[in-house]
Amino acid sequence: MITSFNPFSLSIVFVSILSFLNLTTPATGANDLFHFCANSTFSANSLYQTGINSLLSSLSSNATRNLEFYNTTTNRNTSNPVYGLYLCRGDVTSEVCRGCVAEATKDLTTRCSREKIAVIWYGECMLRYSNESIFSTVIVRPRVALLNTQNITNQDQLNKLVNTSMTSLARKASDVPIGVKKFRTEEVNISAFQTLYNLVQCTPDLSSTDCNLCLQTAIIRLPICCGGKQGARVLLPSCNVRYELYRFYNTTEAPSPSPGLQSLPPPPSVSGQEGKSKLSTATVVAIVAPIFIVVVLFIVGCCFLTRRGKKNNNVAEEADAANDITTVESLQFDFVTIESATNKFSEDNKLGEGGFGQVYKGTFPNRQEIAVKRLSKSSGQGAEQFKNEVVVVAQLQHRNLARLLGFCLEGEEKILVYEFVPNKSLDYILYDPKKKGLLDWSRRYKIIDGIARGIQYLHQDSRLRIIHRDLKASNILLDADMNPKISDFGMARIFGVDQTQGNTSRIVGTYGYMSPEYAMHGEFSVKSDVYSFGVLVLEIISGKKNSDFYESEGAEDLLSYAWIHWRDGRPLELLDPILGDSFSRDEVMRCIHMGLLCVQEDPAERPTVETIVLTLNSGSVTLPSPQQPAFFLKTDTYMPRKGLESDQSTRQSIPLSVNEASITELHPR
Ligand SMILES: *[C@@H]1O[C@H](CO)[C@@H](O)[C@H](O)[C@H]1NC(C)=O
Ligand SMILES: *[C@@H]1O[C@H](CO)[C@@H](O)[C@H](O)[C@H]1NC(C)=O
Ligand SMILES: *[C@@H]1O[C@H](CO)[C@@H](O)[C@H](O)[C@H]1NC(C)=O
Ligand SMILES: *[C@@H]1O[C@H](CO)[C@@H](O)[C@H](O)[C@H]1NC(C)=O
Ligand SMILES: *[C@@H]1O[C@H](CO)[C@@H](O)[C@H](O)[C@H]1NC(C)=O
Ligand SMILES: *[C@@H]1O[C@H](CO)[C@@H](O)[C@H](O)[C@H]1NC(C)=O
Ligand SMILES: *[C@@H]1O[C@H](CO)[C@@H](O)[C@H](O)[C@H]1NC(C)=O
Ligand SMILES: *[C@@H]1O[C@H](CO)[C@@H](O)[C@H](O)[C@H]1NC(C)=O
Ligand SMILES: *[C@@H]1O[C@H](CO)[C@@H](O)[C@H](O)[C@H]1NC(C)=O
Repeated sequence: MITSFNPFSLSIVFVSILSFLNLTTPATGANDLFHFCANSTFSANSLYQTGINSLLSSLSSNATRNLEFYNTTTNRNTSNPVYGLYLCRGDVTSEVCRGCVAEATKDLTTRCSREKIAVIWYGECMLRYSNESIFSTVIVRPRVALLNTQNITNQDQLNKLVNTSMTSLARKASDVPIGVKKFRTEEVNISAFQTLYNLVQCTPDLSSTDCNLCLQTAIIRLPICCGGKQGARVLLPSCNVRYELYRFYNTTEAPSPSPGLQSLPPPPSVSGQEGKSKLSTATVVAIVAPIFIVVVLFIVGCCFLTRRGKKNNNVAEEADAANDITTVESLQFDFVTIESATNKFSEDNKLGEGGFGQVYKGTFPNRQEIAVKRLSKSSGQGAEQFKNEVVVVAQLQHRNLARLLGFCLEGEEKILVYEFVPNKSLDYILYDPKKKGLLDWSRRYKIIDGIARGIQYLHQDSRLRIIHRDLKASNILLDADMNPKISDFGMARIFGVDQTQGNTSRIVGTYGYMSPEYAMHGEFSVKSDVYSFGVLVLEIISGKKNSDFYESEGAEDLLSYAWIHWRDGRPLELLDPILGDSFSRDEVMRCIHMGLLCVQEDPAERPTVETIVLTLNSGSVTLPSPQQPAFFLKTDTYMPRKGLESDQSTRQSIPLSVNEASITELHPR
């Protein structure tokens, strides 16, 4: 969000008023609240793919039978079974349920197109599948917390009330046999003016004990993620809980409140008259005032959504609003915590130094390992702005992106906390004569594919269009299984760099990876990232660094070297000798061909990242022939041979220019 007013509170107020007037539209076409894809990818047209396709179609066709829960298995009796289920919120109409499931099946095919395990949550339904049986089993990971950023005045009282009322509601919801709907809502008076609305739900295939266990796991998270907030939800694969200060569910099917809670005294028979008239006065005010506000907000809301240029400008989409409400508080760490995790930023814990500041390894008391980036103090960004941008960047989650876990802001200190990625960065392994042997061809191919997927997410799939602007081997981190994770995306936002689009006088990439139009004219686009990707591909194939290329065979740089080999019909000689004979000729040829196309001088001749991902995953894409690539490196003025900063490798770095190296650009969509 880069708007100056606070859209979070606005959208939530908006939604709450709309739902008060019962104008909430069904969330068909809504964006998902959150989705999660995991585990090793399968290949296109494989048996697993067929299984997922028929699973999704069976789930969505069964949703038309007015079932709110359905589980099924495809590829039974094969080595690749697929288990899947959906669950609709207990109060929604079958029409809403059907629409939501249809949306989920559609979204999953694009959002988790190659992962074996997937979960997607919407306001009205949840759908997931896996290669391992997920039926009658409590699964509490991954979990997602969403909150309304508005504080409530009496925080302690609300926290206690949420805890006690939710705990008792969970018990009631789970206290039914296996196979029976496990859904409850309840209203609890906070004061004469405020009411707390609670909702809990498990998948009905759980036993009563398991359901209660799952709900308790979720309820414990509420004060941790969202204590004192006006609304929050915790979503787990097997269950979810939510509370708000407005009615966000349809009451028709909600069970009558139990007398177990002090909250609902029976309507007083004597003072009934009085109560009624008071109520109606309140109702008149409550209806007139919101109508006025609705009109105003509708206009503001429309402008706001139009500005964002969203596909679905369905204003009342709760899912959409909630999506904007990811937790500032849950991302914030105390300075003391970070200091002790890094042993007071000790030299021993130092991993490296980049253009933005120093990077340390840290360990939390629960043994979780982190990478801590202590930003140099010159950032011009104000605290609020910084926080907002961190929240936005932290929402960019993909298996091929290094995950931003949170931040710390105290006095002058600005610190970013990332997941720790154990195998340092690609340059550290690829260019080390001893270590490079670890990267056999299939690993290299997977790394290329993973980087392409990470870029695709940044360019196309995330809610913001992001141009990385500084893709290079030292920004590709490798996890324990050598899966690549792109780092340093989103730094333009966090660091408060001028976000002018398309053209900038501030060149912030790394020489050797920058496209000619960017290096010379400051023009950047998704195609300048594609260029850097092409350089990376050729480096991964050859095991040679573009910026440290020794002159050989008349070529001054890796690109011309690759081109000469390709033109002369001996492209395989480009291959890193350490690979010996164990490689797939097809894959290598495809990568060299594509790498050369990516570094074409004319950006229009470079493929899109979509084509790249498709090419890597199916042998049948026809690519045009590459022409001679851009040779701008010939001019020494454009070749400072610098820019080796790396996040989690031990290399020392030389920033291009003070405070400007390694910057990512984000474009709001
Ligand atoms: C992915 O598979 C590995 C190996 O079977 C397993 O250990 C891991 O838990 C799986 N991840 C998820 C999210 O299920
Ligand atoms: C429901 O799912 C089953 C398999 O799980 C499938 O055979 C059936 O065609 C689906 N659709 C309907 C409408 O029942
Ligand atoms: C649905 O789940 C139950 C266990 O809860 C399992 O016994 C049954 O086989 C599943 N149905 C299908 C079609 O997989
Ligand atoms: C799977 O195999 C079992 C026995 O091995 C058989 O009873 C069942 O009908 C088979 N199911 C399908 C869908 O082929
Ligand atoms: C709530 O109930 C109304 C009236 O029955 C219905 O039109 C609306 O779609 C329902 N909303 C949801 C989310 O199910
Ligand atoms: C599911 O997939 C993961 C990752 O490929 C694999 O490790 C695991 O063994 C698979 N589980 C089953 C039951 O096949
Ligand atoms: C919300 O409450 C927390 C403490 O509980 C406080 O630090 C924060 O500043 C408050 N935020 C607003 C917007 O009032
Ligand atoms: C929540 O309530 C339960 C009992 O209802 C209690 O045991 C627990 O300590 C409470 N937790 C918090 C954080 O207040
Ligand atoms: C909440 O308070 C209102 C007014 O004070 C009262 O009419 C209503 O019955 C109460 N509801 C519950 C659930 O206690």
